[in-house]
Amino acid sequence: MNTNVIVTAFAIAVTAIIWVGTTTNNASWTGNRNVCVGECYEAWKSENGGTIADIERVKQEMLAAASPEALGKSYYGQCIACHGGKGEGGIGPMLAGQAQSDLVSKLSAYRAGEARGAQSSMMWPVAKGMTDGEIGNVAAYLTTL
Ligand code: HEC
Repeated sequence: MNTNVIVTAFAIAVTAIIWVGTTTNNASWTGNRNVCVGECYEAWKSENGGTIADIERVKQEMLAAASPEALGKSYYGQCIACHGGKGEGGIGPMLAGQAQSDLVSKLSAYRAGEARGAQSSMMWPVAKGMTDGEIGNVAAYLTTL
């Protein structure tokens, strides 16, 4: 077979594929594009209780509404073994009834590695990793006990 015939046949085949491809391209067809628009999006909205923006807004509001006391309460879980579920004390001193600012300064002192009482070494590893926010939240929670 002549090379020219092969080249010509190939060129015709490619042209045909491109022609078929472009003429059957329908810009308004959304069937196979992995998108959810129109009816699909309306259905998604009613199932999920709002638009994507609504859902995101509600999430942000819930995060902002989490009070320092609520955040501190969940943080305090790791203190209960030594200070008691009601802050009544045990291995460590009683924390309930102390002023928030006292609790903050005591925890900050332990975080800085300062010795306060004879057993401060028990508090150093606890306070070492605490952020200012965590100290403030846990102190806020303790004042509610
Ligand atoms: C392993 C036991 C243990 C754990 C866990 C622990 N503490 Fe303590 N805590 C102590 C001891 C013991 C002291 C007394 C230290 C001293 O002699 O200075 C103390 C002291 C304190 C004090 C100072 C009290 C005062 O009036 O002088 C505060 C505030 C405190 N802890 C808060 C916390 C918080 C908040 C947590 C949890 C994040 C926690 N502790 C976890 C044992 C513990």
